[in-house]
Amino acid sequence: MVLSLSGTKMAHASGIRSIMEDIATSMRGASTGSLLNLSIGNPAPIPEVVGTWRRLFDETLDASFARASCLYGPSRGTDDLVAAIVEYFSGRYGWPLTPEHVVVGSGSQMLSFVASAVFTGPGAARDTKTVLPALPDYTGYQGVYLFPGGVAGIAPRIELCGDRRFRYHLDPDALRRSDDIGLLLLSSPSNPTGRCVSPQELDALLEIAADRDVPIFFDHAYGAPFPQIVETPEPPRWHENIINVFTVSKAGLPGERIGFAVGDPRFIEPMVSFVANSTLHAGQLAQQVTARALATGELDRLTAEVIRPYYAHKRRLGEAAGGHPAGRRELAAARRHVRRHVLLGMGGRAVVRRPRPLRPREGEGRVPGARPALLHRGGRPGRLRPPRRPLLPDQPQRRRAGAHRGPGTHRRRPRRAARRGVSAGSAA
Ligand SMILES: Cc1ncc(COP(=O)(O)O)c(C=O)c1O
Repeated sequence: MVLSLSGTKMAHASGIRSIMEDIATSMRGASTGSLLNLSIGNPAPIPEVVGTWRRLFDETLDASFARASCLYGPSRGTDDLVAAIVEYFSGRYGWPLTPEHVVVGSGSQMLSFVASAVFTGPGAARDTKTVLPALPDYTGYQGVYLFPGGVAGIAPRIELCGDRRFRYHLDPDALRRSDDIGLLLLSSPSNPTGRCVSPQELDALLEIAADRDVPIFFDHAYGAPFPQIVETPEPPRWHENIINVFTVSKAGLPGERIGFAVGDPRFIEPMVSFVANSTLHAGQLAQQVTARALATGELDRLTAEVIRPYYAHKRRLGEAAGGHPAGRRELAAARRHVRRHVLLGMGGRAVVRRPRPLRPREGEGRVPGARPALLHRGGRPGRLRPPRRPLLPDQPQRRRAGAHRGPGTHRRRPRRAARRGVSAGSAA
């Protein structure tokens, strides 16, 4: 067998390939009941969200099963969904939309791949790349190109904020020096940092995009208008150089693979053709369900009443448990939450172990941070302690032997050699 150049690239392991493998493995293991899966991958299955989507599916099956599932349809997206998108975004944000501004795809991951394939690569005038202006960004972007070396990233400027925090900033000057931009691709709120591009940063990106006449693929997977898992500084912006991309995955429907892009028809039209050439169109039953969720306001209700408060609560708990500045109330709530839901749920016995990586397949790479964390049941009783304030660099390292090392770590038993007075280094 001989793989082509693009075949070699596409067959090559990537971060997202590893993540999907981890998801498959952990989903299989989830049925044994012996492990709690704390790894990345799936949005939280919130019962009210699951119930609402299920009801919308029931209603859609009754109303349009035969038309949606037993016939082919338009590559741009079903008429009902495209109309619902046009109405939703024109009504909510006053965008000047027609159906020609919309393309529906099998998830926003696929749409980012489509945009990258359509707008970058070896070209008539010059070779271009997909450029990620806001590193670190979503692992899935690593794989969205057909030819080796097709994605480049711009390192952020890092601002230290006090002794315990730092902030990433875009570096527009570095971006301006790139002369091979075919597409700017970013998530905001960003996966993994949760960082949002500020209005001023977006102005700078737009100036560069307009100057080069390239689109910005703006991935709103976690932001507004749904699911608002992270608050954003401004609503999605309308501009002839922005392709705004939305997904229902993080609003509770990742398995149905529905995402859509809204932008200038000169960018959208080639993407519609790519969808036709590659998959014909996205699944139509789920498209009809999404249309119903948008048109009836159910997606907005879920966002406002369930999803947003759910993640806001989680964030407060996370910040308290993670040692970020947080009030005593949050810390007490975090302790109560862990005691009730983690320790009691495990019969009062739990140990948080150092995550054990799933073994990668031969030849596969692994992205840093893509390791699943597994909370094992049983073992020695664990105790929840407030996080230790890390020692400042200029403070003497006064850690007592056996002192708590923070969540998710073990206390290592001293090696026999070390106990005999031989340093670990010389024993090795
Ligand atoms: C920032 C970001 N964009 C896109 C995706 C993929 O979303 P979809 O399910 O719509 O393909 C993810 C998934 O984790 C993500 O984190």
